[in-house]
Amino acid sequence: MGTPAISAKGLAVKAGRTVILQPLNLSFSSGEFVGVLGPSGCGKSTLLRCLAGLQSASQGQVLLGQRPLEQLSSEERRKIGFVPQDDVVHGSLRVDRALTYTGRLMGLQGDELTNRVTQVIDLLELQERRTVRTDRLSGGQRKRVSIAMELLGEPQVLFLDEPTAGLDPALEDSFMSSCQKLCRGGRTLLMSTHVMQSLDCLDLVLVLLKGHLIFLGPPQEGLRYFQVPSLTMIYKGLAQQDPLQAQQRFAASPLYQTYVAGRTP
Ligand SMILES: Nc1ncnc2c1ncn2[C@@H]1O[C@H](COP(=O)(O)OP(=O)(O)O)[C@@H](O)[C@H]1O
Ligand SMILES: [Mg+2]
Repeated sequence: MGTPAISAKGLAVKAGRTVILQPLNLSFSSGEFVGVLGPSGCGKSTLLRCLAGLQSASQGQVLLGQRPLEQLSSEERRKIGFVPQDDVVHGSLRVDRALTYTGRLMGLQGDELTNRVTQVIDLLELQERRTVRTDRLSGGQRKRVSIAMELLGEPQVLFLDEPTAGLDPALEDSFMSSCQKLCRGGRTLLMSTHVMQSLDCLDLVLVLLKGHLIFLGPPQEGLRYFQVPSLTMIYKGLAQQDPLQAQQRFAASPLYQTYVAGRTP
């Protein structure tokens, strides 16, 4: 792999004496769509927030390309987008006006602003909703607007924390394929979720168990690794597993060599 879009070296998080994330080495390429899975409380949001530079780690370093996050200028920081789990879209503006307003706050203006707004509306398939007030949208549509807002800044790496929470399975499918589209052209997308039907769109699945990395690899490999017909079924088995043993089992697997060790610069 060439220079990764985003990577972490020895990233670990503690709160007092409690270890929230065990030391992790991760590297993701440009254009990769990565799902971060695991039971509630396993550290998904913490991992995404650290990778996005919204939370400082207790140890280790995160690099955007080859640059440590703490050395980025505010302009370079805009290359990282983050959509939190809770809605960030408030108020009663129309979708297009809300986006225009956000774009203006980001320093866009004139034709560039108009074009960028049209572009993100198209990309998130919000054309038919463009004149609807944001407080009249469904949860899934509002999530698309939150993502569209982040995309106005043209981030290279975009984090979505549990964006599919509350979507029914049919909507989840179409949402996942829109996300897959966002990766075309080289954007890296990391999305956390605790339940998910449609994993086929993902390039890589990362599974955390109580802060331990217990799997990283393509979704199909995940099915083989956990010996389940669908990744929604791994959780039942995980409840009985010792996180440290599960981590050690993965560290000894060929997948670890390929997707973790083999990617560590
Ligand atoms: N500031 C904090 N202090 C102590 N514990 C925390 C703090 N923030 C999160 N945690 C704990 O860290 C663990 C991981 O949390 P989180 O990353 O939100 O998990 P997830 O997103 O997978 O549900 C949880 O057990 C949570 O209770
Ligand atoms: Mg979370």
